[in-house]
Amino acid sequence: MRRLDPSTGQPAAGWRGGHRRPAGRAARIGPVVAVGVGWLVVVLVAPHLTVGPGWRSIALFCHLASLVIGFGAVLTVDWFSLRWILRRERLGTVLGMAQGAHLLIWLGLVGLVVSGAALRPDTSSGLVQLKLVAVLAVGINGLFLGRVRDRLANLGDTPTHWSRLLPGALAATISQLGWWTATIIGFWNSTP
Ligand code: HEM
Repeated sequence: MRRLDPSTGQPAAGWRGGHRRPAGRAARIGPVVAVGVGWLVVVLVAPHLTVGPGWRSIALFCHLASLVIGFGAVLTVDWFSLRWILRRERLGTVLGMAQGAHLLIWLGLVGLVVSGAALRPDTSSGLVQLKLVAVLAVGINGLFLGRVRDRLANLGDTPTHWSRLLPGALAATISQLGWWTATIIGFWNSTP
């Protein structure tokens, strides 16, 4: 990603241009395949895992801690993005923040998937299936969001046509829908 100076919103000194990620279709498809395969493995293996009550409590704690870390970071980035749309924040500030939060979001999502598998989901339930699809959508959409962020970085703080912001708005909407769907279904299933 092009690095922006948060104070000016312009490319940081020393930036040589270009893209740090390897170009090409394989570089784009590889992470999507990795997310899809990881998700499939968890979906197939999770129903067969058995853990004792003590470990289940630990897994539930890890599930909720991962939720706080991942979704908390997503909400913070989306909140600052909204402030940018309302012209209360510079694009450079929002993009720098999104880049900083990137690791937390992925750690939270991976933590949710691993601890969720240990909680032994009932994958024959329609609601659980919907939750798992929402989680997959969040993962793949997260990869797409990274590309959208890279494109926005190239715009700098210059005013731009709203249509160029559409992919970002769409990806943010999918992300929010996915996270809230998984949260509500998780809460619903655990309520006696
Ligand atoms: C974005 C990802 C996810 C979110 C936001 C999420 C959210 C939640 C929430 C809020 C709960 C309720 C916890 C409580 O009892 O207080 C929960 C429970 C649970 N989650 Fe998740 N979760 C996610 C991913 C997953 C995944 C990937 C799996 C399975 C592989 C999973 C399996 C479970 C199970 C089995 C429970 C316990 C439900 C019960 O008690 O019957 N979750 N989740």
